[in-house]
Formats: sequence, structure tokens, C-alpha cells
Amino acid sequence: MTENVVWHDGSVSRSQRQAITGGEGMTLWFTGLSGSGKSTIAAAVEADLILRGRAAYTLDGDNVRHGLNSDLGFSAVDRSENVRRVGEVARLMADAGLVVLVPVISPYRGDRDAVRMAHEAAGIRFVEVHVATPLEVCEARDPKGLYALARAGEIAEFTGIDDPYEEPFSPELRIDAGSELPGDSARRVVDLVVS
Ligand code: ADX
Repeated sequence: MTENVVWHDGSVSRSQRQAITGGEGMTLWFTGLSGSGKSTIAAAVEADLILRGRAAYTLDGDNVRHGLNSDLGFSAVDRSENVRRVGEVARLMADAGLVVLVPVISPYRGDRDAVRMAHEAAGIRFVEVHVATPLEVCEARDPKGLYALARAGEIAEFTGIDDPYEEPFSPELRIDAGSELPGDSARRVVDLVVS
């Protein structure tokens, strides 16, 4: 509820912040299936940006679920709330001048679009990267062993198995991490940031 709550403006401008953080704050949103390579690519992009003197930070879906979102599960309602909260934190951090990398499955198009709209309303750049690695590749990799558990019926509502994933219609970038090395994917993302 924002009734009776008044927005308080600070006295530091966005350009003053950017002088400290090395450039424009923005959110790089990596959506895709579990095991698609989102976190690996985000980590490589973050490391590259830090080397270039840009303040950057990754809000990883799995990590955020250990703290801020530890009360949320994987129902559609909880996934939406997960995405909304991470999106809000990303928007604030981007406003502070950081390049915020967000690898989260974020399976619902409407939830991702809401985060995009919140960024646009605040005048903050939002870059959607679809890590479109095919399900067969993600499942064959199965880095956490979760696909095997989902197929065995030990995890319900697993994205791509018995829960939906809605692909973005027009992401700023599409990556197939099944046929491209993480370093090459990361370079394409960095090019979007620094161009
Ligand atoms: S999201 O759907 O709400 O965006 P998020 O990216 O935060 O998901 O978390 C996904 C991670 O949780 C996966 O990488 C996987 O390790 C784990 N996980 C556990 N249960 C599920 C499930 N039912 N569906 C998808 N991922 C799951």
C-alpha cells in the first residue's frame, strides 16, 4: 500500500552516481530454462565489466531464494512474486548506477514485461537476454541433477518438464548456449552494454 506514503527525492543526480560507478546503470535480464547457462554467462559478463571499471553485480535466482525470497516456492504465484521482487531490487540497484545482471528462469512473459515496464517508467535501460538453449541440451547437462529428479516425479512443477516456459517474443539478444561458448555469448552481451 502506498496510500499516505510520499516519495522523497534525494539530492544526488543520476549522472553524479554514474561518475562514481563508471557508467550508466541498467539491468541485464537473463531468462531461460534451468541449466541453460544463464548464470555462467552472467558471471562472465560481470567479470568483464568489473575489469572495464564498471560497477556490476549479479542477482542470481538461486541465491536470492536463499534470503530475500526464501519464503517463496515454485507455484505460478510465487514465481511471479519472485520475479517482481528481484526486478524491483534490480531497478533500484540500476538507479544507483550499477549494471545489474539477473539470471532467473522467469518463465512468465507477463512478469518479465512488468519488470521491463517498471524500468522504462523510471528511465532505466532494461536488456532482455533469452538464453534459448534447447530443453534436450539442458536436460542432458543437468548440472544440479534436478531434471532427473523431475522425470522421476520427485520434483513437481519443474520448468520445461511439467511447468510452462514462455519464450520472449522480442528479446534484445538471443543466445543458444548449446552451440556457443560462454565467453562468446558474454562478449555479445558486453557489446550491448558498452556500445
Ligand atoms: S523462477 O521460475 O522463479 O524464475 P528461479 O530462477 O528463481 O526460478 O529459480 C530456479 C532454480 O530453482 C533452478 O535453477 C533450480 O535450481 C531450482 N528449482 C527447484 N525447483 C524448481 C522447479 N520446480 N522449477 C524450476 N526450478 C527449480
